[in-house]
Amino acid sequence: MVRKTLIAGNWKMNGLLEDGIALAKGVAAEAKKAARKDCEFLICPPFTLLTSAKKAIKGSRVLLGAQDCHFDGKGAHTGDISPLMLKDLGCQYVIVGHSERRTDHHESNELIAKKAAAAINAGLKVIICIGETEAEKDAGKTIDVCTAQIMGSVPEIATASNVVIAYEPVWAIGTGRTPTAAEVEEVHAAIRKVIGKKLGRANANKMRILYGGSMKPSNAKELLALPDVDGGLIGGASLKVADFMAIGEACKQ
Ligand code: 13P
Repeated sequence: MVRKTLIAGNWKMNGLLEDGIALAKGVAAEAKKAARKDCEFLICPPFTLLTSAKKAIKGSRVLLGAQDCHFDGKGAHTGDISPLMLKDLGCQYVIVGHSERRTDHHESNELIAKKAAAAINAGLKVIICIGETEAEKDAGKTIDVCTAQIMGSVPEIATASNVVIAYEPVWAIGTGRTPTAAEVEEVHAAIRKVIGKKLGRANANKMRILYGGSMKPSNAKELLALPDVDGGLIGGASLKVADFMAIGEACKQ
């Protein structure tokens, strides 16, 4: 089963106009030179940079995504952004259910599923994030937690063409620590099985599952070579053009 590798940068709450535009331009220019023509590059800047990033990557192969959305198309939701607005702006992707939103904004699986369904209906592809905390890992609950998150936060209308799963162990985000390659493969294979139960075998075989959490040039090759790892969701290392592109060059042939 060939699944197109996705190298996605989640910029989080980083970037003012000048450095954000420079970063987007840098990624676009390097992506043109990149030897790998068969993987997707995606940048997910903060909302404030989406319009300028869109201009900066124009004409390149780099795709644009946002980091969150509301589940309504429009209306009285002060401070929120709808999937339709993101689509209108030229986004192809949106991330939902990142652990930072699950924690900082108390987002539930149910809410995340609603956001994901709304984004799909607006014509966006959705990256749904899941992953266990350190305490859950230590208690041997990684697979149980990921299973519950998939069952609860992946909407019924999800298919391999409109949803990507990102497995991000919470304890690995921004810490420099990662699970071993064997642990990553075990969890990804388990996630694929759960997707199979929920959405059928065909979707499970085709759906991309990204790894996220301290992915960097030095560990990308080993992680991206794993059979059930179909790309990366990269935080810190996506803020440096050279690091982000080096991860892109490390993906499997
Ligand atoms: P880091 O790559 O900084 O660990 O962040 C991962 C992440 O949360 C991407 O969504």
